[in-house]
Amino acid sequence: MNISKVTCVFFSATGLTQKVADLFLSALPVPAEKINITPHASATERTFGPDELVVFAAPVYGGILPVPAAQRFALLKGQNTPAVCLAVYGNRHYDDALLEMKNLTQNSGFVPVAFGAPVAEHSLMPRVAAGRPDKKDAEQLQAFARQVWEKLGDLKALSSQAVPQVPGNYPYKKFDGVPFKPQVSQACVHCGACALHCPVGTIPKNAPDTTDKSACIACMSCVKICPSHARSMGPKGALWLAEKAFLVKFSKRRDLEVFI
Ligand SMILES: Cc1cc2nc3c(=O)[nH]c(=O)nc-3n(C[C@H](O)[C@H](O)[C@H](O)COP(=O)(O)O)c2cc1C
Repeated sequence: MNISKVTCVFFSATGLTQKVADLFLSALPVPAEKINITPHASATERTFGPDELVVFAAPVYGGILPVPAAQRFALLKGQNTPAVCLAVYGNRHYDDALLEMKNLTQNSGFVPVAFGAPVAEHSLMPRVAAGRPDKKDAEQLQAFARQVWEKLGDLKALSSQAVPQVPGNYPYKKFDGVPFKPQVSQACVHCGACALHCPVGTIPKNAPDTTDKSACIACMSCVKICPSHARSMGPKGALWLAEKAFLVKFSKRRDLEVFI
């Protein structure tokens, strides 16, 4: 089959999923349109045709998709549209995220022809998988993209037979979030960048030095984007200890897994 257009829809709180998706897209022969569904005001409804390819990319939170990512993906509809799903994770595991992406895309009229689980730095514990994606990741992601393109070229028609099996269990893992929430220091200059980028709208535009912690998903978007470094996870505490434990437990490098 011929693909006339490629669109990448991504959720990326700290930019790592976006970086991974860009590496994948860089090896496709067609330039992709990119739709960023991360900020809370970014929900987009759209329908894609049968000769388009949609690349869905999201990070893994607690073994599943971040809730706002799943909600915004569900607004996109396919018409027997081929799709690729990328679940980017921080070297612990992706658990049920690929299965969730498979069910979600199939329920919305897409035909997910390939799945990838690439590793990137752990956004909550950045010493875990530090520096990923690296050169080896880039090569693997690009080789995967070429493989996907070849598969699409070889397909005469698109049916559920083109959908590979992926690991995962249903009901999906239950994830109630993490107990760590960002703090704001006196360095806040009220520029509002954090409020604009927050995926769940927990930071008021007129009071960006506050956060509704009950709704915060600890995605680290505000910490990453703050130009005056006013937002942080605070002094070395429970999160720092958790990171130390993760560094030991998940020290073995995991590489891109693909299902095609
Ligand atoms: C709240 C939260 C939960 C996470 N849960 C997992 C997890 O279950 N497994 C894992 O390997 N990485 C986990 N990570 C790490 C992210 O999946 C990984 O760093 C991802 O690349 C972040 O992408 P982003 O920069 O696009 O937001 C988690 C990160 C956060 C912030």
